[in-house]
Amino acid sequence: MSIARISWISGPVLRARAQGPFRLREAVRVGERGLLGEVIRMQGDEIVAQVYEDTTGLHPGVEVTGTGSLLGITLGPALLGRIFDGLLRPLAGASTHHVEPGVRAEVPLEFDFTPRLRPGESILGGAVFGEAVNQSGIRQVCLIPPDAAGEVATIQAAGRYADDLPVCTLRAADGTHRDIAMSHFWPVREPRPVAQWLPSDEPLITGQRVLDSLFPVALGGKAAIPGGFGTGKTMLLEVLAKSCSADVIVYVGCGERGNEMAGVLDEFPRLADPRTGHPLMERTVIIANTSNMPVAAREASIYSAVTVAEYFRDQGLHVALLADSTSRWAEALREVSVRFGELPSEGGYPPYLSSRIAEFYERAAKAKTLAGSTGSVTVLASISPPSGDFSEPVTSHTKRQVRSFWALDVKRAQSRFYPAINPLQSYSEDSLDLGGWWGKIYADLVPDGDAPTNEWSELRRRFLTLLDEQARLERMARIIGKDALPARQQLILFCAELVNEGFLRQSAFSETDRYCGPQRQARIMRSITRFIAAAEVALAKGVSCEAITAMQIVRRLERMGEDIAEDDVQAFADLSLRMESEFADLVALTGAKREA
Ligand SMILES: Nc1ncnc2c1ncn2[C@@H]1O[C@H](COP(=O)(O)OP(=O)(O)OP(=O)(O)O)[C@@H](O)[C@H]1O
Ligand SMILES: [Mg+2]
Repeated sequence: MSIARISWISGPVLRARAQGPFRLREAVRVGERGLLGEVIRMQGDEIVAQVYEDTTGLHPGVEVTGTGSLLGITLGPALLGRIFDGLLRPLAGASTHHVEPGVRAEVPLEFDFTPRLRPGESILGGAVFGEAVNQSGIRQVCLIPPDAAGEVATIQAAGRYADDLPVCTLRAADGTHRDIAMSHFWPVREPRPVAQWLPSDEPLITGQRVLDSLFPVALGGKAAIPGGFGTGKTMLLEVLAKSCSADVIVYVGCGERGNEMAGVLDEFPRLADPRTGHPLMERTVIIANTSNMPVAAREASIYSAVTVAEYFRDQGLHVALLADSTSRWAEALREVSVRFGELPSEGGYPPYLSSRIAEFYERAAKAKTLAGSTGSVTVLASISPPSGDFSEPVTSHTKRQVRSFWALDVKRAQSRFYPAINPLQSYSEDSLDLGGWWGKIYADLVPDGDAPTNEWSELRRRFLTLLDEQARLERMARIIGKDALPARQQLILFCAELVNEGFLRQSAFSETDRYCGPQRQARIMRSITRFIAAAEVALAKGVSCEAITAMQIVRRLERMGEDIAEDDVQAFADLSLRMESEFADLVALTGAKREA
């Protein structure tokens, strides 16, 4: 094992003279307490390492020992349902935000193992060799590490084993043997291999109308949630964790204030899974690295989280990786870089900020796994730009990597319009690939005679155009006064407001509206579109804009999300009939008045 001695130390960064070979990205142990660190630079016989724990008390002369392996984590059946720090060491309990310095490995847990292979069978890396069932009865498959392969020499019979003990031995082509446990090690900065990348033509359903219907993200896609202070980033990520359509949730709280993370840590273990009624934690992994924890570990936590997500993807599952917030992660990168004297680039961040952001988002994808199944990692990550300025480096570099951009708006948040997503600043490139999927949802509804064949894309385009026009007309109205606008333009403003109130606004606290499924989103979108079309006809027939805005049906349309339950198809049909008759009455009344 190689040894080095500290020659200089500042906060989490140290330089040390090496007395043996070290590797870039190698994990090291520092001092008597064996603090975990990682080699981040090599210059001649000097190494630069960042330390993932409080370095108080370390000084020049203290020994640094190489571990021989890259910085990595243990992946296995012991992940689900638990809370870890940035390097995947278990946090003792929901209210404990610290781990003991130098803690090496967690206590092994036991699982009921069932083999799926027999001695003599040949197997490739990443394949399934057995199943493990945990205390809650959750069944997970056990994977051969991607870098192992061979013929099964021995495999244990069904029984209860510790997850770190060998339950299988592989004989490689060269005759060497390798022990395989239910858990295996993987370096966090190395993407796990897959058989094939797959294009994604289905969405990750979030249950939020503004996201799914206007700015969708594909399964295996990537979305950024930038937003100024207090605009609802954490809240939105929590809503997504509770109701998005992923099989497994990996939530990484990265450098957020301890009290915010405490909310997640306290609340999650008590939540019920809306799908099964079981605790949501059973299919969740939480990685917590709050602002009071060592800064370098925050930098690593993002990679730990995405590696965990890839591990579940490799089991043929769809994983949502929720990260809050990537700005705090970038700040950790900046702090470490400044400490060891690198020349800063824009915003004081190191010049490699953009490539690091790219490396992180590149790991989101849908793939055919080495075991032959289909899995995905969808990344949804918040950004906290200082003073809500989206032109700052982290936001602008992220924009180049993501395909969905969900911009939170200070003004909307201040007026308590939630989710505070600004439809004019947000976009989704994935929407281009998801028209087919949504087309089927619309086609399965009660047919609408007038509906275009690509109904979703068309309604989406109309809503976005309307919201765009609203912004333009409001600017004009501020100059000439709203009453000076022609009736048609006043109607546009009114309809846009209906889209805002009836469609975009969605209460996280309403039992009915917390989650809105794709069919209900489609029905609400259709109802509003029908109203707009009927209103335009009525206006053309001489009905005044005031009369339209005073219609009773408007209030009902605004409250569809909260009033009409998920499967209440009849209520939508009734609403539609009522709308028709109200419009018919209004037109008739206008005609009668004219004749009189
Ligand atoms: N969907 C929502 N429904 C109702 N209230 C919300 C919603 N989203 C946010 N809020 C309100 O806004 C407050 C701030 O939200 P949140 O903590 O999520 O913001 P943030 O962007 O994460 O803030 P910070 O910049 O401090 O991290 C919440 O405490 C809550 O009162
Ligand atoms: Mg927050």
